[in-house]
Amino acid sequence: MTGAQAAPEPRVHRTPAEIGDAVRALRADGRRIAFVPTMGALHAGHSELMRQARSAGDDVAIVVSIFVNPLQFGPNEDLARYPRPLEADLAACRDEGVALVFLPGVADMYPEGADTTVGPGALGGQLEGAVRPGHFAGVLTVVAKLFHIVAPDVAYFGEKDYQQLVLITRMVRDLNFPLRVVPVPTVREADGLALSSRNVYLSPDDRARAATLHRALRAGADAAAGGPAAVLAAAGRVLAEQDALEMDYLELRDAELGTDPEPGPARLLVAARLGATHLIDNIGLDLAPTGNDRATIG
Ligand code: PAF
Repeated sequence: MTGAQAAPEPRVHRTPAEIGDAVRALRADGRRIAFVPTMGALHAGHSELMRQARSAGDDVAIVVSIFVNPLQFGPNEDLARYPRPLEADLAACRDEGVALVFLPGVADMYPEGADTTVGPGALGGQLEGAVRPGHFAGVLTVVAKLFHIVAPDVAYFGEKDYQQLVLITRMVRDLNFPLRVVPVPTVREADGLALSSRNVYLSPDDRARAATLHRALRAGADAAAGGPAAVLAAAGRVLAEQDALEMDYLELRDAELGTDPEPGPARLLVAARLGATHLIDNIGLDLAPTGNDRATIG
């Protein structure tokens, strides 16, 4: 036979019972389960999650879920117009060697009478949670359900949604889910814009402006040797140059998103609107001690 063999199509299952059976069959075959939960509209950032999953070992079978979760959208958000390019999504899964796709409908995930949710704690009301009330209860509820349904050994989440990653990692610890959460660095366009399924909403002008967020974060990170005030001032200066940005927040937190970052690993997070599009991004940095704590040299 000549040429490369076409990658096999992933098997698609629509109900929790079907995907549960398919996962158990893979396990019986000696496979470990690596899980990538998504809302579809897959881009290179999702493909990177799948590649990381594949690199976990030859015995790994990748399971991807595609479900636009109504519970994590507010009443004035983009649930109805959220992109749903199913054929392209399945092709992206096939190209990354995904074994199973879980593609439930809303009634499969939230049957009549479903009323139990997972609370995200105090952090769930801050940052994105302050801008989008109820968002993280919706995220944690669907992710907890998906973890029970798919029962993975390991699950992959992008650092682009850093607060989501922290809250899911915390939920796994606090509620004793028997799995490991693996963070995957943000994939970016050439100008630094973080890949997001929502970038398709941006007009050409706003698309050009959107890279300001990453430039601001970089400026903040470059000022880390000056301590927290210098970081926020440097990032704020870059954001202020772009009139079209309507700011939601620019905050410096510790790596677990606590409010008093100590010297050491920290996270600078930004959210802003361009037109009707809500954009978020973040960057890790190493914060220097401030003021009198700072060592002087010479
Ligand atoms: O990051 C996302 O795409 C979603 O919030 C997730 C984790 C798939 C839950 O719906």
